[in-house]
Amino acid sequence: MKKSNFDVVVIGAGPAGYVCAIRCAQLGLTVACVDAWSDKNNKPSPGGTCLNVGCIPSKALLDSSHHYSFLTNYAAVHGITTKECDIDIAKMLQRKNKIVKTLTTGVKGLLKKNKVTFVHGIASIKSAKEVHITKSDGDQVLVAESIVIATGSKPLELGFLSVDQKQIIDSSAALELGKVPGHLGVIGAGVIGLEMASVWSRLGAKVTIWEAEDQFLPMVDKDVAKQASKIILSQGFDVQLNSKVQAVIKNKKSVTVTVLGAEGESQTEVDCLLVAIGRVANTENLGLSDLGLAQDSRGFVEVDAQWKTNIEGIYAIGDVIGGAMLAHKGSEEGVAVAEQLTNQHGHVNYAAIPWIIYTWPEIAWVGDTEQQLQIDNVDYKTGSFPFTALGRARAMGDTEGMIKFIADANTDRLLSVHIIGPSASELIAEAVVAIESELTAADLARTIHGHPTLAEGMHEAALDLDGRAIHY
Ligand code: FAD
Ligand code: NAI
Repeated sequence: MKKSNFDVVVIGAGPAGYVCAIRCAQLGLTVACVDAWSDKNNKPSPGGTCLNVGCIPSKALLDSSHHYSFLTNYAAVHGITTKECDIDIAKMLQRKNKIVKTLTTGVKGLLKKNKVTFVHGIASIKSAKEVHITKSDGDQVLVAESIVIATGSKPLELGFLSVDQKQIIDSSAALELGKVPGHLGVIGAGVIGLEMASVWSRLGAKVTIWEAEDQFLPMVDKDVAKQASKIILSQGFDVQLNSKVQAVIKNKKSVTVTVLGAEGESQTEVDCLLVAIGRVANTENLGLSDLGLAQDSRGFVEVDAQWKTNIEGIYAIGDVIGGAMLAHKGSEEGVAVAEQLTNQHGHVNYAAIPWIIYTWPEIAWVGDTEQQLQIDNVDYKTGSFPFTALGRARAMGDTEGMIKFIADANTDRLLSVHIIGPSASELIAEAVVAIESELTAADLARTIHGHPTLAEGMHEAALDLDGRAIHY
C-alpha cells in the first residue's frame, strides 16, 4: 500500500479543515487534507457541510426566495408592478447548485495553490501517527507528525423517526425539494427550522413548526426575541411552542404528525416533514474508540484550550468538538491550531463570535444577552435605536427591527450588540471588531458613520447608551 509522509494530516475539508490545512501550508508545513465528500458524479467536493449542504446553498435559496417575496409582496410600494411572477424551482435549484460547484472548485484550487495534497477518501486513524485512507483507486496510508480531526457534524435524528429524504427529510433534502410543498411541517424552531421555513413559506408553502421549548428563540436577547416573534411570525408560518411530536405516520402522499401541545394532543397532516432538532458530532469511520480518544457524553471530541485531544499529536477543531457550530468558529480554530503547531500563539476569542440567523429581517448578535448578564450580576447599561428612525431604512422600505447595545456601566466597555433588522448580518461585523478590540461605547459614539446608511443605527445605539441619540 502506498505510504506518504507529511508534517500534518487534516481529516475533513469543511471550513475548519481546509482553512487549517491552508494556514499550516502558509506556515511552511507539509500538509495533506483528506475529505470524503463526493458530488452527484462521485467527484470530490471539498467545502464540507458549509459549502455542499449548509451555509451557502441555504443562503442561495434564501436570496432567491427573498427576491420572489419582494416582487410578490413589497415591490408595489416602490411603484413596481409585475404582470406575472412565476417560480421555476428547477432553475432556482440549478442556480444554487452552480454556486456550490463554483465554490467547491474554488476550495480545490486554493488547496492546490497552497501546495496542500488533497486526498479524496474516507480516513480512519490507526495510531497517533498513521491515517488509513479508503479510496476508490486504491487505499493509502498517510504518516504524520500531527493529525487534525475536522470531520464536522451531521443532523440529530429523533429516535422514533427514520428520515427517508422524501416525506421525512433533514436539512440537506430541504435544500433539494423539487416543488413547493403544499404544507411543510418542521420539528424544531432553531436556526435551520427558521431559515428553511423562510425559504419555503416565501415560495408559497404553508409551514407549521413544532418547538419543544416554551420560548421562541431562547438563545437570543429578550428584546430581539420579542420583536422577532412579532415580525417573523406574522410572515405566514405558524410556530407552536411547547409542542412535542409524539408520533408520525407516513401515508401514501402525506405525513400525519401527532403533537402533544399546551392544549393537549392534536394531529396535523403535512406533505413533508423536516426534522431540524440540532446536530451531532460526525466521528463515523474514524476508529476513535479503538484509539481510546476521549469523547463527551454527546459524542463530541474532547479538547483542551489548545485543541489537543487526550492523545498526543492529535488535535480536533470545528463542529466535531461542539460549542457554536458555525463555519467561522471552525475556521478560526483551524488557523489557531496551525499557529500552535508552528510554535506561535494561535488563539480564538470565543466571546467575539458573531451569530446570524438569515430570516428577514435578519437577526445577528455578538456577546452575551441581557438575560445572561443579569444572571452573571454584571452592572450594565443599554442603548437602542429603531430602524424606523433611519433615513436609509426608510428609503429601502425596510424599517422593522432595532439595534441594541449593551456596555459595562462602570468602564463603558462594549459587552454585546443585538440586532434584528435589514442587513443585520453585515452590520454585526462592526460590533465584532469593537468587542475584539475592547472598544468603549464612547469610541463608537465618536466614530463617524456615512450617511445615509444602516450603519448610522449602530452609531445612534452607541450614543443612546449615554442618552445622546440624536434622531430618536
Ligand atoms: P463540516 O463542514 O461538516 O466538514 C467536515 C468534512 O469532513 C466533510 O466534508 C466530511 O465529508 C468530512 N469527513 C467526515 N468524516 C470523514 C472521514 N472519516 N474521512 C474523510 N472525510 C471525512 N454556519 C454558519 O456559520 N453560517 C451559516 O449560515 C450556516 N448555515 C447552515 C445551514 C445549514 C442547512 C446547515 C446544516 C449548517 C449551517 N451552518 C452554518 C453550520 C456550518 O455548516 C458548520 O458549522 C460548518 O460546516 C462546520 O465546519 P466543519 O469544517 O467543522 O465541518
Ligand atoms: P438548533 O439547536 O438551532 O435548533 C434546534 C431546535 O429544535 C431547538 O429550538 C430545540 O429546542 C428544538 N428541539 C429539539 N428537540 C426537539 C423535539 N423533539 N421536538 C421539537 N423541538 C425540538 O439546531 P438546528 O436548527 O438543527 O441547527 C443546527 C446548528 O447548525 C445550529 O445550532 C447552528 O450552529 C448551525 N446552523 C447555523 C446557521 C447560521 O449560522 N445561520 C444556519 C443553520 C444552521
